[in-house]
Amino acid sequence: MGAVILGTGSSLPQKVLTNKELERTIDTTDEWIRTRTGIKKRHISGPGEYTYALASDAAKKALEMAGTDPEELDLIVVATISSHMLMPSTACFVQQELGANNAFAYDLNAACSGFLYGLDLADKYVQVNPEKKILVIGAETLSSRVNWQDRNTCILFGDGAGAAVVGYSGDDERGLVGSNLLSDGSLWKLLYMHTAESLNEDIKVPEWPGAHIVMEGREVFKHAVKAMEDSVRNLLQETGYDLDAINLVIPHQANVRILSKLIERLELSKDRVFINAPQYGNTSAASIPIAMDEANREGRITRNDLILFCSFGGGFTWGASLIKW
Ligand code: ACO
Repeated sequence: MGAVILGTGSSLPQKVLTNKELERTIDTTDEWIRTRTGIKKRHISGPGEYTYALASDAAKKALEMAGTDPEELDLIVVATISSHMLMPSTACFVQQELGANNAFAYDLNAACSGFLYGLDLADKYVQVNPEKKILVIGAETLSSRVNWQDRNTCILFGDGAGAAVVGYSGDDERGLVGSNLLSDGSLWKLLYMHTAESLNEDIKVPEWPGAHIVMEGREVFKHAVKAMEDSVRNLLQETGYDLDAINLVIPHQANVRILSKLIERLELSKDRVFINAPQYGNTSAASIPIAMDEANREGRITRNDLILFCSFGGGFTWGASLIKW
């Protein structure tokens, strides 16, 4: 056992965009969006609500719950694919916002799986440095990275941030039990997003589509369900736990239809799965830590509970993690 989560926090932009409002700008209906995705609304950033601002707000709440001073932090990792700048990293902006003067900071790009990759990294770090504290954040403003004319993608995503203060458990009872994390770069064309157009003529993308998300929805759906199912099953086998022993499953909130299929394939009872996609849509790297914070603050997680996370996203990246809270 290693990493324990000492505190959680989350942050959402003020503005809410409903399906009904989307009906006014693109050729869609509330009914289509709800039946295909289960999403009813999403939060969209307004003035000043950059990725780092949401991340910092979530971090402050997590630090408060953990009773940790920002100066105690050794490392800040922000999982994001929607930093408002390529350099400096969102993590460096968070570091200065918090006044975390003893921390080094960097971003991690693993799309929707970023928070789980970050948690696994934090676990390895505290195993070696048990006295250290790490802030792992998932934060996105994907509203700045979707093509608002593309009804296939823009209806799915939302903005927000979630954070966790990670430390060493100090006992054999609690902590991260294990992770099963994977990537497959060969399928990148099914889900991708370019950055700015190249200023070097020699390495220009031939038909640059713009710096927004491009996706083959049906293919992504199939891969997502199978990959998450496989990861969960493999992780349970590796760690020797039975699915019946899990108190709560907190999956990446891609959309309700993907989650329903996963629940069906794993033969889970719905009351053991935390779902908030209807309110927030897909917030990519932020979706698991936002859901985790909500579940935590609602009292759905208590000490010693077995919490199972699973995710899938662009790359492809995917995986599952199990933690004894
Ligand atoms: N409103 C109305 N009609 C729409 C909309 C919309 N917003 N979007 C697409 N349509 C139309 C299509 O044009 C198509 O019309 P056609 O038959 O005339 O060509 C029809 O609806 C069916 O389109 P499909 O893409 O086949 O619809 P599908 O049932 O596959 O649902 C969806 C689309 C919701 C995107 C689904 O494929 C999905 O959930 N995919 C997973 C995508 C995902 O979650 N990606 C996020 C990143 S990865 C991750 O987080 C796991």
